[in-house]
Amino acid sequence: MREGEKPIGVVDSGIGGLSVLQALVNRLPRERWLYFADQAHLPYGARPASELRRFGRRIVAFLLEQGIKALVVACNTLSAAALDDLRAAFPHLPIVGMEPAVKPAAQTSQKGVIGVLATRMTLRSERYLRLKERFGQGKRFLEDPCVGLVERIESGDVDGPATQALLERVLTPMKQAGVDTVVLGCTHYPFVLPHIRRFLGPQVTILNPAEAVARHLARVLESRNLLRQDGPGAVLGYFTTGPAEALVRQVRHLTPELEAPVQSLPHFWQEET
Ligand code: DGL
Repeated sequence: MREGEKPIGVVDSGIGGLSVLQALVNRLPRERWLYFADQAHLPYGARPASELRRFGRRIVAFLLEQGIKALVVACNTLSAAALDDLRAAFPHLPIVGMEPAVKPAAQTSQKGVIGVLATRMTLRSERYLRLKERFGQGKRFLEDPCVGLVERIESGDVDGPATQALLERVLTPMKQAGVDTVVLGCTHYPFVLPHIRRFLGPQVTILNPAEAVARHLARVLESRNLLRQDGPGAVLGYFTTGPAEALVRQVRHLTPELEAPVQSLPHFWQEET
């Protein structure tokens, strides 16, 4: 098979990466996609970096066996913990990762007061701290790990009172501090964007890096002559280390336009060598 014909892997701890997959499919409609959700280990945000690096290596090795030509780490947490390690372990595989949009936020914010919503792992990571040091000089950052939000979204509760109360708790200090820009630093959070928007008001800029990631992937594929020539593209399928039925329901609920067969891999982590 011509290298460009191969699918592209997309990985997240769960369904957060679907918010990225939407942008990827829109930007690169001829490409074919394989999505991996490590739902047995969710949430990633509370786990140590060394563990996430181990998970990442095993998942990428599996996706390479499925014949991927490139990988999108559609997870800020896994990117923060493991991106450099994955690039070193798989030097021939183009790997595109995510990071909180600190640079665009610093450029956008008029007041220099910026909210960052991301997992604890991401907020503590060296990668994030370096970003702030480089681009955030003179700005004030209000950060929150949104404990429990990923689980609420995974459970299908994107609109319920508990999710809204959690968001209100997280966003109230940011609103009081006068943030004019908020960074969505976890790929699960775009699914609750309407509530964040409603609470903060229309004057606050909310940054979701998914589009930028899709543009970046397009440039990487083009530069390596890896773009698929003929369309149409498709999501070929989903793998999950959790139960298949749950992921089927979640995709149908959040991104019905991306529905595709789901395969559960219940023994994936037992087979780890
Ligand atoms: N969706 C992931 C992220 O972008 C991680 C969520 C989690 O498992 O904690 O950070």
